[in-house]
Amino acid sequence: MIETTMSEQLTIALSKGRIYEDTLPLLQAAGIEPLEDPSKSRKLIIPTNHDHIRLLIVRATDAPTYVAHGAADIGVAGKDVLMEAPTDNLYELLDLQIAKCKLMVAGPVNEKPQGHRLKIATKYIKSARNYYAQKGEQVDLIKLYGSMEIAPLIDLADRIVDLVDTGNTLRANGLIPLEHIADISSRLIVNQHAYKTKFAQINQIVQQFKTVIE
Ligand code: ATP
Ligand code: PRP
Repeated sequence: MIETTMSEQLTIALSKGRIYEDTLPLLQAAGIEPLEDPSKSRKLIIPTNHDHIRLLIVRATDAPTYVAHGAADIGVAGKDVLMEAPTDNLYELLDLQIAKCKLMVAGPVNEKPQGHRLKIATKYIKSARNYYAQKGEQVDLIKLYGSMEIAPLIDLADRIVDLVDTGNTLRANGLIPLEHIADISSRLIVNQHAYKTKFAQINQIVQQFKTVIE
């Protein structure tokens, strides 16, 4: 439980959906209960059972920005998002072992031989660029913000770089996983300044999260 004497305001950035759902048991272990359910409420600042702790409901890709700028003290973000974002002013304190999946290259089941540089559609430009640079392979990257699976079906790209969990989305679109780039899970991120000024409060949450993860 969070000590009631530690009453400095603490703001936690979370995204709706799987990260929120998977973080709830960790928050519960730390004695933090949201007073509203973001899947039902339109509120983006959710109070908790502690007057001084609140949740910010943000886009998954925005969580590192809120924490880096100190608008939130701590937050939860996928490693895929962190690999794309500038991580100055942030500590990645804990692998929460939630929202696990893989960042992969995928392509059509019956891939035609290419007579040109590979065209890769992805939301993960930085990770894809690093991956192909490491392989010494020159590719053309095409930035998309979602529904990447469509790109090879309509010849926008030869392959995609995207997240894969069950593989159902790839299968449903006639694609197969080809190359593994990275294992992904969500991380607890902390603003570097807040980690100094609110150390006791944040450390207590970290220790309580650890009891669930371990
Ligand atoms: P945004 O709203 O910013 O576009 P998003 O739609 O990718 O983000 P979510 O789908 O909630 O947001 O994904 C949040 C995080 O969950 C991702 O950053 C990734 O780390 C992880 N994730 C995404 N897809 C899966 C999946 N199919 N299985 C497990 N984890 C996943
Ligand atoms: C993610 C990801 C893939 C899918 C992979 O999408 O972008 O499309 O999950 O999971 P699977 O291998 O189990 O099918 P998500 O469900 O988050 O939808 P979104 O990209 O629209 O947010």
